[in-house]
This record gives sequence, structure tokens and C-alpha cells, in this order.
Amino acid sequence: MSASDLQPSKLGTKEHWDNAYQEELENFEELGDEGEIWFGSESVDKMVDWALEHVPPSSNPSILEVGSGNGTLLFGLFDSGYNPSTLHGIDYSPGAVTLSKEIAKSRGASAITFSECNFLSDDPQTPQSIRREGQVDVWDLLLDKGTYDAIALGEKDETGHSPVVGYPTRVTRLLRPGGYFLITSCNFTEDELQSNFETEDTDLVYHSRIQHPTFTFGGKSGSSCSSVAFQKRTRTQ
Ligand SMILES: C[S@@+](CC[C@H](N)C(=O)[O-])C[C@H]1O[C@@H](n2cnc3c(N)ncnc32)[C@H](O)[C@@H]1O
Repeated sequence: MSASDLQPSKLGTKEHWDNAYQEELENFEELGDEGEIWFGSESVDKMVDWALEHVPPSSNPSILEVGSGNGTLLFGLFDSGYNPSTLHGIDYSPGAVTLSKEIAKSRGASAITFSECNFLSDDPQTPQSIRREGQVDVWDLLLDKGTYDAIALGEKDETGHSPVVGYPTRVTRLLRPGGYFLITSCNFTEDELQSNFETEDTDLVYHSRIQHPTFTFGGKSGSSCSSVAFQKRTRTQ
């Protein structure tokens, strides 16, 4: 399936996410409920385990989560020993940013930074601890859990393309040469992810995979998730 083959749905609209996080924020403030864990906590554990093996805390990596929602994945990294000041989450929904900051405070993880950013069009703010003057390709690891899937459900343009077709080159723009991109998707198979990301427009090459059990996404149960990691070519490759 190409990135433009999915039918648009409300999960591909900013309005949906703004409403969802407004509600999650109220639930957190009233009940302390941190909200939905997309694809289940096992997916978080597996992505964290992958990071521990390939981009360990001892290398003090800079890590960006694209569409970080309530921040669960970044909190998982924090709990596993990553330096919080090098962890950053971006989300285009302001409610998600407020929610993840509040949860961070309650978990003693306020050094993790979160900011509002549309990944398809804007470069994220780079935290002070990893800023390099004039450079945007500063990240050692980019993470995506469910965001590529959500963007693929956005309204198509007049040529029939989903907004998600612009996603892979944004990854390349932000990763440092040799850096990794780890994505978990429940809408695309491993082969589809590989053909969507390993193209002549990106400098990404397949690196490794994680096996997952089955989850529910967009009301469809039993769809299986896949996680694939890519590495950006170094200048000499
Ligand atoms: C399925 S949720 C996953 C949230 C989080 N990654 C997790 O696993 O809990 C998709 C997230 O992507 C965000 N999102 C969708 N399109 C985006 C875009 N263009 N730029 C930044 N964030 C976006 C949504 O606001 C939402 O938080």
C-alpha cells in the first residue's frame, strides 16, 4: 500500500486531536489519568528496549519524538535512564503539549521539553543542551508511534496525495548523518514502511525491526503493528 492509499478519517484532522487532548487534559487534572497509550504499553517497552540496544543512554543521545501526544514514550526513555534534557517531544496539538508538560511535572521529569510544532512544515525548537548553531540535523534518534499513521489519514490534495508523502524527507532533514529513525505503525506493513522511507529522496537505509503482537487502531481490531528502524547514511556511505 502506498502512503496515499488510505481513506481520510477524523484521526487525520487537527480538530480531532485538539478535542481529544482537551478531554485528556481535563481527565488528568481531575483524576490523574495520563490518557491513552497508543498500541499498548508493550509497544512502548519494545521501542525503549530497541533504543537501549542501539542508542544507549551512555552515548547521551538527542532524541525527538514526532507527535508525542501525552509523552508516554519519552517518559519510558526517562525511566530507563536517558538524560531528560536531551529528550524532546513535538506535537501540533497545543493540548498535547500542555498535557505532556503537566505529566512531566508530576513525574519529576520537567527537564524533558515539549513544544508545539507541525512536523510536516516546521522545524522543531532544539533544546539548549543539544543546539548547534545554524543546524537542524542534530538528532541522533527520531521516534514515531502512531503519528505517521495519523497523518496518512489526512485529507488528500487535489492530485490525490496524502499529506504524509512529505513525511520521509522531513525525517532526513532532522536526523544527523548516522542517526536513526524508529517507527511503529499499525496501518503499514514492514515492507510498506521500507518502500515508503527508503527512497531516492531520503538518505535512509533499513536497519532493523521489532516484532509486535496485535492492536486496535482507528476502530479496527486485530490489525498487527510493525516497527522498523532506518539509519541515515553518513557522508562517506
Ligand atoms: C496516534 S497519536 C500518537 C501519540 C503518541 N505518539 C503516542 O504514541 O502516544 C498521533 C499524534 O500525532 C500528532 N500529530 C498528527 N499530525 C501531526 C503533525 N503534522 N505534526 C505534529 N504532530 C502531529 C497528534 O496530535 C497526536 O498526538
